[in-house]
Amino acid sequence: MSGAVARGPHADVAVERLGEAEAAAELAWLAAEIARHDRLYHGEDDPEIADAEYDALRRRNEAIERRFPGLAREDGPARRVGAAPAAGFARVAHARPMLSLDNAFDAGEVREFVARVRRFLGLDGAAPVALVAEPKIDGLSASLRYEEGRFALGATRGDGAVGEDITANLRTLDDVPAALEGGDPPALLEVRGEVYMLREDFARLNEAQAAAGKPPYANPRNSAAGSLRQLDPAITAARRLRFFAYGVGEASAIRAPSHWELLRELAARGFAVNPLARRCETVEAALALHEEVEAARDRLGYDVDGIVYKIDRLDWQARLATAGRAPRWAVAHKFAAEKAQTTIESIAIRVGRTGSLTPVAHLEPVAVGGAMVARATLHNEDEIARKDIREGDTVIVQRAGDVIPQVLGVVAARRRRGARPFVFPETCPECGSRAVREEGEAVRRCTGGLVCPAQAVERLRHFVSRDAFDIEGLGEKQIQAFWERGLVAEPADLFTLAARNGALDPPLEAWEGWGATSAANLFAAIERRRRIALDRFVYALGIRHVGQINARLLARSYGSLEALSGALAAALDPDGDARRELLDIDGIGPKVADSVVAFFAEPRNREALAHLREQVAAEDFVAAPTDSQFDGRTVVFTGTLEKMTRAEAKARAEALGAKVAGSVSARTDYLVAGPGAGSKLAKARELGVAVLDEDGWLALTGA
Ligand code: IVH
Repeated sequence: MSGAVARGPHADVAVERLGEAEAAAELAWLAAEIARHDRLYHGEDDPEIADAEYDALRRRNEAIERRFPGLAREDGPARRVGAAPAAGFARVAHARPMLSLDNAFDAGEVREFVARVRRFLGLDGAAPVALVAEPKIDGLSASLRYEEGRFALGATRGDGAVGEDITANLRTLDDVPAALEGGDPPALLEVRGEVYMLREDFARLNEAQAAAGKPPYANPRNSAAGSLRQLDPAITAARRLRFFAYGVGEASAIRAPSHWELLRELAARGFAVNPLARRCETVEAALALHEEVEAARDRLGYDVDGIVYKIDRLDWQARLATAGRAPRWAVAHKFAAEKAQTTIESIAIRVGRTGSLTPVAHLEPVAVGGAMVARATLHNEDEIARKDIREGDTVIVQRAGDVIPQVLGVVAARRRRGARPFVFPETCPECGSRAVREEGEAVRRCTGGLVCPAQAVERLRHFVSRDAFDIEGLGEKQIQAFWERGLVAEPADLFTLAARNGALDPPLEAWEGWGATSAANLFAAIERRRRIALDRFVYALGIRHVGQINARLLARSYGSLEALSGALAAALDPDGDARRELLDIDGIGPKVADSVVAFFAEPRNREALAHLREQVAAEDFVAAPTDSQFDGRTVVFTGTLEKMTRAEAKARAEALGAKVAGSVSARTDYLVAGPGAGSKLAKARELGVAVLDEDGWLALTGA
C-alpha cells in the first residue's frame, strides 16, 4: 500500500457548498475511483490506500448523494454489482462462483429460453422440459456453509468470486439453522439463498430511524443490505432479517435428481423455501405463475421483482453449465417496473464517445421504485417523434432494476398550450460538425471525429481506461486539462508528454493540483505502457462495436498488429479472401466487420495509428497457457454429431481455448466430421487438416 490518495475535481469544496454541476463531476470521479480501489482490493489483492481513506471516499459519495439524490449514479458504489465489502469483514473466496441471472423481458423470451435449452441439449420440440418457477426475492444473496451439519461460514456474494464473511450476522437470523435437521448430515453442504426483510419490519425500522433523527432507508432491500453489513451482530439481530433458500453451491453429496427435490431436501434440513415455488411441466404453466405472483405482489409482505425459471433436471443443469456470469439453465423474468409521473424540464443532447447524439430528458426529480430519478434517456429522435415528447410535458417514467430510467409516454391532457414539437439538431452541439444518420440507423452521429471535443476527450479517456491502456493517474479531468491546453490531441501525444514537459510554461509539476511527485508518477505510468497486449491495444482504439470481447477475437485471430492492420486494409474488398477470413471468425458478424474495416480504411485513423506505433509496441497475442491441446487452435464441426449438439460442442471447444470457425481454410487445425460430412471434409483432406470423428474428438477433449 503506497502513494498519495487521489483527489476528486472538487475535493476542496465541502459537500454543503457544492453546486449541482460540481456535485455531478465529483460523483462521477468518485464512482470511477471507488471502482478502481475495489478492483485493486478484490481483483488484485493490492490495495493502494488505507481502509480509512477508502471509507472516506465512500462517505463523501454518500453525503453528496444524500444532498443531490437525483444525481445518484447507476455505477455509483451503492448500486454497482459486486460492490466492495465494507472494511471490517474478512474476505471469503467462493468455492463455486455465485452467479447472476440473464433476463427475459417477456413471455416470448421465456419460451425462447426453453427452446434454446432444447437446442443445446439436442432435445426435440415435443420432449418435456420441466421447470421450477420460483419468486425472485428482492434481497441479497448469501451463502451458508454447513460442515458436518453445523453452520460454519456465511458469506455475501461480493463480486461473485469473493464475498465478505458475515457468519456472525447470519447466525442471528431465525431462518438460518445452527445445525442441519433431519439426521445423517452431509460432510459439506453450502446452501445459497436470499436474505430479505419483511415490509412491516422495514416500516418499523424506518420509524425508529426517524425517531433517532437518522435518514430513512430507501427500500427493504437497502435496509437488509445495511443490516447485514453491521459490524455489531446485535444490531443485525434487532433488524429481523429473513432467508429463503433457493439452491446449493459446494456439496459433498447431493442425491436429489432435480432442483425440485433439492428444494424439498433443503426444507427437510430446516430451511425456509419459498412456498410459491412450483414445479411446472410446461413453459406455459411457469408463465402462469408469473402472472399470479405479479397480481399478488403487493400482498406478499416482502418484495419480489420477478420469477426465476430453472431447468428442473440437475443432470441437464450440469450439461448446460454457465456462459459468462450466468447459468444457461436459469433465467429471470422480471415484473413490470415501477412507474411515476413528472415533468420534463428540458431535453439535452449528449454526445457520446463514438459521436452518437443521445437525447436526455432532464426531469423534475421524482421517486421511482425507491430511487430518485432526475434524468431519463429518450433514446433517439425517432423515439421522441413517435411519442411526441416535448419540453414542459408531463410524462410517465419507468425504472426497471439497473436499467436507465425511461420515458414511457406523455400525459397528453396535461400538455401546456403552446408546447412545440422537439426539433432534433442536425449539427453536433459540441463541435458544430454535421450530425448524420447512417442508413437503417436510428442514431444520429457527429462526423467531427477527433476534432469534436466530446469525442476527443472521451476517446482519450477510453484509451487510458482500466481495460485499455490502464494509465494510472490519468482520468477524465486530467485529459480534459491536457486537451484544453492543446497538449494532447490524439493517443500518441500522451507518450511524448514527458519529453515536451520541460519546454512547457509552466511545466506540469507547477500546475494546480500537480506536484513533482504526481507528475513524475504520471510519466512513469505512461512509460510502463510502451509495451501492451494486442487485445488491449485494439480495444483502446475505441472502434465502434469493438468491445473487449471482439478486440480479443481480433487479436487472437490475427496474432500481431501488422497482420491485423494489413488484413483489415485488404478486407476493404468485399469479395476478397481477407473479408471472408474476417467474417469467418466466430463472433464477428458483418456489422463489426464493416466497422473495423472502415476504421482501418480511414486515413486520419491510419495516421493516428502510425503515430501511436512510433511510441508503443503492441505485443503479439499469446493465448493463456492451458493444458489443452486445443488452446488457440481453430476447430470446424461438420456433419451430424450424435452425442452432443453443435451448441454444446462449440461451448466445450471454446472452454478449451479453441476458436470455432464455420468453414475450412488453411488456418483450420481440426475438422470434427460426423456422418454426412461433405465438401468441408473434402477440403480438409485436400489441405491436410487433421480430421477427427466425434468419438476421437470426445476422447481428445476428455469428455
Ligand atoms: S438463482 C445461478 N433463485 O437474483 C443463479 N436467484 O440476478 C443463482 N435471486 O444473485 C440465482 N431470488 O441474489 C435464484 N429464487 C431465486 C432468487 C435469486 C432472488 C437473486 C440472487 C441472484 C440474483 C441474480
